[in-house]
Amino acid sequence: MVNLILTVTQNRSYRRFFQQETINKDSLLQWINLARLSASGRNLQPLKYLVYNSKEECERLFSNLAWAGYLKEWSGPEEGERPSAYIVILGDTQLTDDFATDLGIAAQTILLGAVNDGFGGCMIGNIKREKLRTEFQIPDQYKILLVIALGKPKETIELEEVPDSGDIRYWRDENGVHHVPKRKLEDIVLNLPQ
Ligand SMILES: Cc1cc2nc3c(=O)[nH]c(=O)nc-3n(C[C@H](O)[C@H](O)[C@H](O)COP(=O)(O)O)c2cc1C
Repeated sequence: MVNLILTVTQNRSYRRFFQQETINKDSLLQWINLARLSASGRNLQPLKYLVYNSKEECERLFSNLAWAGYLKEWSGPEEGERPSAYIVILGDTQLTDDFATDLGIAAQTILLGAVNDGFGGCMIGNIKREKLRTEFQIPDQYKILLVIALGKPKETIELEEVPDSGDIRYWRDENGVHHVPKRKLEDIVLNLPQ
């Protein structure tokens, strides 16, 4: 339990990385393998994956993603702090058109695998999907669901309680530390005795 809570706590949405630290394809495949072994509705296993770790591919992928919507003054990681690999999660529409729960399970499992190996990443849902489809020649059969950006994390991230104002927006302080408010357990479990 101790290890699991440490891993889950360490598994934050990292958006700045030591870009020169590469991730090999074997690692990417091992993390996807963890997702492969996980639960799937009706056991349909409709998720498919694309893996990228070359400099050229990473550059092209980066230009299709939007970062940290709440940090208005920050447009995303600068050169040198960008991800060194990506996993694109696709939904195979020949199998189903409902990917919701499978997608979350797979994305979280992949990230936990990355954290367990000393890496980290961020789920990116804000994607220029049609541009990505064209540039990477992704057939229409596959719905572009989520991109997972991966690298060696360079950020310090701290979890804190949601303030009384109820503001759940993450923020970055003057030292570059990223703060993420989380709701209290008693605020999300509805039938706890008072
Ligand atoms: C479905 C989903 C989509 C997300 N899309 C983006 C995104 O497009 N860009 C981004 O910077 N972060 C994205 N995130 C990361 C969230 O902002 C992040 O999970 C949230 O701020 C909480 O931080 P934490 O993951 O460290 O707990 C996404 C997360 C999820 C679960």
